[in-house]
Amino acid sequence: MHQEIEEVLVTEEEIIEKCAEIGKQLTEEYDGKFPLAIGVLKGAMPFMSDVLRRVDTHLEMDFMAVSSYGGGTRSSGEVKIIKDLDAKVEGRHVLIIEDIIDSGLTLSYLVDLFKYRKAASVKIVTLIDKPEGRTVDIKADVVGFELPNKFLVGYGLDYDEKYRNLPYIGVLKPEIYSEQES
Ligand code: PRP
Ligand code: MN
Ligand code: MG
Repeated sequence: MHQEIEEVLVTEEEIIEKCAEIGKQLTEEYDGKFPLAIGVLKGAMPFMSDVLRRVDTHLEMDFMAVSSYGGGTRSSGEVKIIKDLDAKVEGRHVLIIEDIIDSGLTLSYLVDLFKYRKAASVKIVTLIDKPEGRTVDIKADVVGFELPNKFLVGYGLDYDEKYRNLPYIGVLKPEIYSEQES
C-alpha cells in the first residue's frame, strides 16, 4: 500500500498534534453549549475520532453519509444523501467535521441544509483545505492544513474506497489512478 504513495504531505505525528490544538480550541468555544458534532461519512471518520477525543466538554455525535465523488477522482457536482442524521438540528449548535474541502460542494450543501433545519449556529472544522479546488464560495471556520491541489489519500481520504486506513496524508502516484481511468 505505502509504495503506491508518491509523497507524504502530513505525517501521523503532525495530525495528532493538530488534533490536540483544535480539540483545545473547540473546548473553549463550545464549553456549556452541548454542540451537535456531525461527522461526514465516510472520509471524516478518523479525524472525527481523533479530534473529538481531545474536546473536553459534553457534546453529541451524529453522522451523515453523503457522496459526490462516486469511484472517480473528480466531483460529480451532485451531492447524494446516503444516511441522514438521527438527531434534530433545530436550535442546536452544529459543528460539521470534515476531512477535506475541495470544490466546496459537499459543505455548502450541508451548511444550507442545517440552516434550513434551523440550527442555532453552523460551523465547519476540516482537517484539510484545498483552496485551489474551490468552485463555490465557502470557508471553514477551523482548518488543520492547507494543501496544494494534488490527489490526496489517507487518513479518511480514499481513491476508489482504498487508502482511508493510511495513518498519514499522502499524494497518490498518478499511474495508480490513470491505469483505471484512461
Ligand atoms: C470527499 C471528502 C469530502 C468531499 C470534499 O467525500 O471526504 O466529503 O469529498 O469534496 P468537495 O469539497 O469537492 O465536495 P466523498 O464524496 O468522496 O465521500 P467519502 O467521504 O465517502 O469518500
Ligand atoms: Mn466525504
Ligand atoms: Mg471519497
